[in-house]
Amino acid sequence: MIRFDFQKYQYKKLENYDLNDLKERFLKDNQMSGWYRLDRTDFDKILDSAAYIRKNCDVFLVIGIGGSYMGAKAVIDAMAPYFSKKRPEVLFAGYQLSSDYLKELLDYLEDKEVMVNVISKSGTTLEPAIAFDKVLTFMENKYGDATKDRIFVTTDAHTGALLELAKEKGYTRFIVPDDIGGRFSVLTPVGLLPIAVNGLDIEELFYGAEEAKRNLNACYYYTLLRHELYQEGKFIESFDIYEPKLASFAEWLKQLFGESQGKENKGILPTSTINTRDLHSLGQYYQEGKDILFSTILFAHSDNTIALEEYHKTLDRVNEIAMESVAQAHYEGHLPSSIISMDEISMENLGYLIFFFEMSAMLGGYLLNIPYYNQPGVNGYKDILHRRIKEDA
Ligand code: PA5
Repeated sequence: MIRFDFQKYQYKKLENYDLNDLKERFLKDNQMSGWYRLDRTDFDKILDSAAYIRKNCDVFLVIGIGGSYMGAKAVIDAMAPYFSKKRPEVLFAGYQLSSDYLKELLDYLEDKEVMVNVISKSGTTLEPAIAFDKVLTFMENKYGDATKDRIFVTTDAHTGALLELAKEKGYTRFIVPDDIGGRFSVLTPVGLLPIAVNGLDIEELFYGAEEAKRNLNACYYYTLLRHELYQEGKFIESFDIYEPKLASFAEWLKQLFGESQGKENKGILPTSTINTRDLHSLGQYYQEGKDILFSTILFAHSDNTIALEEYHKTLDRVNEIAMESVAQAHYEGHLPSSIISMDEISMENLGYLIFFFEMSAMLGGYLLNIPYYNQPGVNGYKDILHRRIKEDA
């Protein structure tokens, strides 16, 4: 269950706003894209492949960058125990250009049974292409002809070098639907295969997302609220978490909102904190620094009831009181907060939040009147990088 509090630590009230007006305008303009469908078409294939992968490897290596890996990582990390490794271990590569990472990864994989999922909608992105090239050589040396049964390719249905390679080598393929961009693709095979391989229930994830889709009022309210705050000069939204397992979820949110809405000299800059850790670093700025921030707190209750006898409370309750105290202190210092709290970190709650935030990222882009599904700024760096690599003597 998820609760929203957009009132208590918020000096902006939206009494005069008509949510229905926004809904109607928005539905009329039909801004939805493929992600809104919540399509289960590939579920059987995903579940069959996941069962096969789980049986036959120690490590499932996911190669991708941006929207091609962050959603899966967000869910997997949120659900993972802190101190024991699940089998198969899901590892990620191809999201940076670290030589040490790639070398140490290949060394680590040496004595493990490995399967690989390379994910790239375009099939041309440099970072995953480099990582996959090296991993493929490693796999072919290790498994010879049997490599074919150990590589899973998630890419476009019609074009791209990765598609051609997959066809030529006979790898199992999953499709990134034409009308779903990277950062909106966690509930497609892009995110669902790694999540299912991790042993997590993708049905529950979908159940949560469908629940969010049926109950969009909070999403409309949140979207309008952040838009209003932005109009008043609150240019930075901080996603503040009090459970470090949600750190990758906050990274996913930063990507979703940053890449969707930071365009045409507009948009809120998303950032994040992990609390209470960051109260002892960024907390100072949030309390007394420049007046450009607002906060969206994601609070997750724990079902571990550690009792703190001296306070006559559970540790979970003390964490919650800390969160409320921070929100109050910030409010008194002119930093407004919305609170989104989950009764627990569960697949259902994560699915709910994924849909909620995808909807809001798109709807907020609509309010800004910017093209929220593209990322020309990212392509800008890619073009220069490719040229400079060629020119480099
Ligand atoms: O959200 C997006 O569209 C991007 O972050 C892409 O996912 C990222 O650039 C990776 O692209 P590709 O899947 O084509 O390799």
